[in-house]
This record gives sequence, C-alpha cells and structure tokens, in this order.
Amino acid sequence: EKGGYDYFMLKEIAEQPKAVADTLLGRIDAGGSLTLDELRIPDAVLREAHKVVVVACGTAFHAGLIAKYAIEHWTRIPCEVELASEFRYRDPILDHRTLVIAISQSGETMDTLMALRHAREQGARVLAVCNTNGSTIPRESDGVLYTHAGPEVAVASTKAFLTQLVAVYLLALYLGQVRGTKWGDEIRAVVKDLARIAEDVERVLETMEPVRELARSLADKDTVLFLGRHVGYPVALEGALKLKELAYMHAEGFAAGELKHGPIALIEQDLPVVVVVPSPRGRSVLHDKIVSNIQEIRARGARTIVIAEEGDEAVVPYADHLIRIPATPVLLQPMVSTVPLQVFACELATARGNEVDQPRNLAKSVTVE
Ligand code: M6R
Repeated sequence: EKGGYDYFMLKEIAEQPKAVADTLLGRIDAGGSLTLDELRIPDAVLREAHKVVVVACGTAFHAGLIAKYAIEHWTRIPCEVELASEFRYRDPILDHRTLVIAISQSGETMDTLMALRHAREQGARVLAVCNTNGSTIPRESDGVLYTHAGPEVAVASTKAFLTQLVAVYLLALYLGQVRGTKWGDEIRAVVKDLARIAEDVERVLETMEPVRELARSLADKDTVLFLGRHVGYPVALEGALKLKELAYMHAEGFAAGELKHGPIALIEQDLPVVVVVPSPRGRSVLHDKIVSNIQEIRARGARTIVIAEEGDEAVVPYADHLIRIPATPVLLQPMVSTVPLQVFACELATARGNEVDQPRNLAKSVTVE
C-alpha cells in the first residue's frame, strides 16, 4: 500500500505534483479562464460578497492564512482568517453577504463543523474546501470546492495542504474573474503559472537529498525556529507545526518583522533558524528586509537555513545552508517553499526514531473538542 516507500508520509509527499495537477484538472480552460462548476454558489452571490472569513484548524488554517493574501490582493474583498475553535465561541459579525470558507481535509473536524454551523445560523454563505467526498463539512455547506489529493493516510498533512493552496488560489482568482477587478491581466498571467506549478513541485522534490542530510545532522537539537514574511510567514508556521508533530521538537514560526519585538532574544550560538525568503522580484522591499533579518540573526550566532529562489544571490553570503526553490509568482511561492519543510520534518522524525505516520498523541481527524 505504501507503494515502495517506508512511510505513507513519504509517499504522500512524492504524490504532490499529481495531487496538484488533479486539483487543477478541468478548472482552467485553454484561454486561461477559470470554471468552477461544482461551486453551487451563483456568481451573482460571489459578486455581492463584501467580506470573506476563513475558518479552519491546524495545517488547513495555514492554508487559510495564505488565502488572505491572495483574496485581498486579487479581489479587494476584506478577508479574515480565524481558528475554527476560536471563531465558534465568538460573536462574529456576519451577514448574508459574508462568504465563509471552511477548509478541511477530512471534512469531519468538529471545531470547523461547529464554526460553519455558527456562520450559517447568522445567514452567511459557507463554501467548503474539502478533500473527502460526501463528508459532513461539505454536506452542511452551501457549496464546495473539492481538492483532489486522494486519500491522505499519514497524520501529518502534506499533499492535502498543497491542494488546499491550489483551491484557495483558484477561488481567489475566480472571485477576481467574476468581479472583474483591475488585476485582470495579472490574474490571467497567474492562472498560466498555476497551470504549470505541478512541474515546479516536481523539481523541488528532485533536489531534496541535501535537505535530508541537513535534517539528520540536526537530530540532537532541541529547538528550531522558522521565520518568514508575507506568504512566507504562514509557511514558517507550517514548517514549525510539522516539526512539532513529527519530530517532537520545540519549533516556532515567527513573522520576521517581529524579531525585534521579542523572538530575537531566543537566538544563541548554533541555533538552527529556517528562513523562508520572499521572491526578490515583486515587492522587493520585503526581500531586502528579510536579508537584513538573516544578517541580524547570524551576527548573534544563529545557524541559518535559507530557502530562497533560484537566482537570488543576495542571500548567499549569509546562508549556512541554502535550499533552492524555483521562481514562482510572489503569491504562489508557498507551493514550492513548503515542500522542503515537509521533507525536513519527516527526515528529522525518522532520525529521532519517531513513528512518522502515527505521531504520539495525535489523530488524523479531530472529531472531538
Ligand atoms: O481534516 P482537517 O483538515 O480539518 O484537519 C485539520 C488539522 O487537524 C490538521 O491539519 C492537523 O493540523 C494535521 N495533523 C497537521 O499536519
């Protein structure tokens, strides 16, 4: 069943290019326009939406955080992202023009289900992003956009996450398309890049041996920190979550801009810090800022593990370890920057003798509170 791999997680990491391609299949036409037939929410309703709220847990929540950058940029609709477990006990301000997106691989997560019920009671439209056909969350939602990752067995989410990203990009671009924002040309260009992104994921997978080697060399560390900016910030959070659940290590993700507000005090000699570097193209100010963040932590002794685009030479002098990823449009970078972090966590877990597919204390689907 594991198709020759030692763990389901390894198999599922390797299946990501296919999962991504399958999730895109039939949704982009030859002219670069999107069709999301199964949505079941009329375009007229999407055109009217004045607020988007994303609710989810764990890794799906990280996909939601990335969705915010994409939705606000391409559609100019304000977007909030909230942990389902917090949202469900709050008194959120919602109405029939609020679009709630509930992201869940299993479609059975209790907090996400309760959050969507809470939203529907107040008249909001709920759209599920889900990987499991006919599960409770899509059944109770107004509409659904299925991810086509296939069954995910390992407790740690990998291919489901990448396909959730595809789904939220498709949604953001589709919302932009039906509402006709001023980003029309950019949207068409990004759709073309998205259509090719599975190949980029494949290329990343082909270059993972040094990442595995690096992970093994860090097996006796207690702490690893992760820094990112913009869409790299949720990627940092995801990298840290993977390491916690698989390697049982203390791992934290920070927005790099927060360093001086506290976390920089944690930096000590030889502490591994993974930095997700935004594209040097696009908003280059972000890139410059993170290069100085890398310099700052390195000057304080951090061992820097830098994930940067091919061709980004500015980071080279400050990277103790450099992990290259293909250049993508700025907002799509998480599709490629997440992959080395999955491999890193999986290899560290193996090196520490942990059960990769079934980490201690965890269940694949959290159907209780
Ligand atoms: O099935 P769901 O997507 O609703 O699950 C949400 C989380 O429980 C899940 O992503 C969890 O955080 C994973 N174990 C992370 O790898």
